Amino acid sequence: MKVHQLSETIGAEISGVDLASLSEVEIAEIKEAWLSYKVLVFRDQDISVEQHIAFGSYFGELEVHPFADNLEEHPEVIVLEAGGDSPRQNYNAAKDWHIDVSFRENPPMGSILRGKVIPESGGDTRFSNSSAAYEKLEPDIKARVDELFAVNDYTKMFGPTTRFNSEESHTENIKEYPPVLHPVIRTHPETGGRSIFTNNFFTSHIDGVDSEESEYLLEKLSQAINDPSIQFRVQWKPETFVMWDNRCVHHVATDDFLPSFRRMERVTIAGDRPF
Ligand code: OGA
Ligand code: MN
Repeated sequence: MKVHQLSETIGAEISGVDLASLSEVEIAEIKEAWLSYKVLVFRDQDISVEQHIAFGSYFGELEVHPFADNLEEHPEVIVLEAGGDSPRQNYNAAKDWHIDVSFRENPPMGSILRGKVIPESGGDTRFSNSSAAYEKLEPDIKARVDELFAVNDYTKMFGPTTRFNSEESHTENIKEYPPVLHPVIRTHPETGGRSIFTNNFFTSHIDGVDSEESEYLLEKLSQAINDPSIQFRVQWKPETFVMWDNRCVHHVATDDFLPSFRRMERVTIAGDRPF
């Protein structure tokens, strides 16, 4: 197995492995590289849906997304499609910097996304190291946010006004996924690293401060994530797999390929309550 670093602070390409037949040693090496580089890229992995699921299961239990479009026969596989004449057009589920499913009490540990149909040009995904973003905050901002909690609420992104939720399903869903408090800066349970855990999709406001302070701090944190010096981007090909650590990485899609068709499939590894 070879590990090729893709930028100074985030991302590595892993080669010389077949995701369909991994040894225990390779799984341990992948896990170690994942914790170091936060996002891993695997190329040319022509594996089945079942093997994609099996690969994710090596790292933890897979979760079923409460709202996203998924495969009927494999509900743990989310389908993200846009362009062409796809009836789904659910790409807006990724068009701003975000952390996956941070509205859950236990947000996912990570996601493994596969490129299925990739347009001729465009459609890259960008990743930002939210631990490096935290380290680079101005000392004054760092001190102000360090001990705070923020409200994460699915309605900000998947609210009753979107195609993901009708007024009816919202009444039920909000009982199961009520707004939840997570630390603004979380501590990684495996590496101990601190990282920004507020995000543009699901964080409605910071708890315990006035709305002006909340908006100001959320904007500062968002700007810190939006810093190209701690980011890298993945140019997809069919059968590229990308695995990110949702505890210390924000990501965003680019919709510069439309009206061409693009299809992605994702499995999501369950995680712990952030602290
Ligand atoms: C996701 C996601 C981005 C993309 O699958 O969680 O945000 O570029 N995808 O498809
Ligand atoms: Mn996402």
